[in-house]
Amino acid sequence: MTTETEQQGGAGVGTANDTLTITDNRTGKQYDVPIEDGTIRATELRRIKTDDDDFGLMTYDPAYMNTASCRSAITYIDGENGILEYRGYPIEQLAEKSNYLEVAYLLVHGELPTEAQLADWTYQITIHTFVHENIKSFMQGFRYDAHPMGMLLASVGALSTFYPEAAAIKDEEVRYIQVIRLLAKMPTLAAFSYRHNQGKPYVYPDNDLSYAGNFLGMIYKMTELRYEPDPRLEHALDVLFILHADHEQNCSTNVMRGIGSSRADPYVAVAGAAAALDGPLHGGANEAVLRMLREIGSVTNIPAFVKEVKGGGGRLMGFGHRVYKNYDPRAKVIKRLADQVMDLVGKKSPLLPVALELEKIALSDDYFVSRKLYPNVDFYSGLIYEALQIPADMFPVLFAIPRTSGWLAQWEEMLLDKDQKIARPRQIYTGYDERKFVPLSDRRAPAQPAAQSKPRAETD
Ligand code: CMC
Repeated sequence: MTTETEQQGGAGVGTANDTLTITDNRTGKQYDVPIEDGTIRATELRRIKTDDDDFGLMTYDPAYMNTASCRSAITYIDGENGILEYRGYPIEQLAEKSNYLEVAYLLVHGELPTEAQLADWTYQITIHTFVHENIKSFMQGFRYDAHPMGMLLASVGALSTFYPEAAAIKDEEVRYIQVIRLLAKMPTLAAFSYRHNQGKPYVYPDNDLSYAGNFLGMIYKMTELRYEPDPRLEHALDVLFILHADHEQNCSTNVMRGIGSSRADPYVAVAGAAAALDGPLHGGANEAVLRMLREIGSVTNIPAFVKEVKGGGGRLMGFGHRVYKNYDPRAKVIKRLADQVMDLVGKKSPLLPVALELEKIALSDDYFVSRKLYPNVDFYSGLIYEALQIPADMFPVLFAIPRTSGWLAQWEEMLLDKDQKIARPRQIYTGYDERKFVPLSDRRAPAQPAAQSKPRAETD
């Protein structure tokens, strides 16, 4: 038996015991692979070959079930214990003691700001809230009933054409001003999308208001000269923004990093990330939760609905998470907030008892318990938005506004990470072997769809 022990001691490799020994039973060879931070480098496996012409072993990991795609110092999740921290600060403490712009600073810069830094950051973001008038005309071109998420992602992508200098992504100062612009303009684009969808005139930002207060103003303002947000609602929205700001390598963040890895500018990258967020399994889930609760309608219909879900006839939206195998800590905060907001607006949602009962039943049902399916952030957020009289179409938009800070922090981290290159996964090719082109006149429809599934070897 040949033993290959070329120790590739990468940075951070500890003792000689921090290795994995792999025996390739095809050849009888053994390989020592360094273990670093509980991972092995997938490229190490390429040394494992049957002969010199072999491409080397790859990992197959659809949907990244067990692949770390980056090193990150931004957000920590312990899914088993329901822990979420931004830059080391527990989400519960940030939700209670901080505000969204401070949290955005923390995510982007890595530390909480001093008083002067926060004042400057807030000022910079506040004075960049307006968008070019042509962006307004661009948005007015959408159909009267366009989904606001489609409008948001199209208009944020269009900002790229207004700031061509943003392409210089290697320049730190250029990057910084785009971060400011994006954080400042997302609420404006989001509110314009909403007003368009409602057939109401767009409302310009009011730079005397807070980040959340200004957004509420752009949503609600009608004939009054000044919109004065209710500070309690303003606070509730700000807390929701904090809870949604980042969530490590989720689907949309992975897209943000993926697009950014090609060195595209941050506007188009945010547009792509927003598109990923739109899906019902991700940021569109809160919209789907509300539709589901409406469909169930009353507490008496819950058992039949749960039975249908268990029989494979759909999912319990707002339940389950790839990482959390415990109660999502954000859902706990949101559940309390939902009660407060409903008390404030003086109207309990008729869907709240349905949600509470559904949660109770699901948490005691073996189907959900055995699969560790708990309420996630989206289960109660829709009820708050509904209490604020915001239509379901707007829910993913309300998610995209604060998630922009997370996307941008992750984008910056990716660009500065020496390990990163253009994102480019491998595949196992299952198509045809090489074959000759068939002229059109000689083609016949195949008797049945041809499926050839013999995998072919990967090449460089
Ligand atoms: N309702 C019923 N069954 C479910 C659900 C659900 N919500 N979620 C997962 N399962 C079942 C699934 O059918 C599978 O069962 P089995 O092992 O018998 O085939 C098992 O649980 C594992 O599910 P999975 O699809 O392999 O898990 P995943 O990690 O790929 O999916 C998820 C995670 C969030 C996409 C999924 O739980 C889901 O679809 N939830 C509903 C949508 C939702 O609430 N999304 C918001 C996520 S949190 C905010 C965000 O990330 O944007």
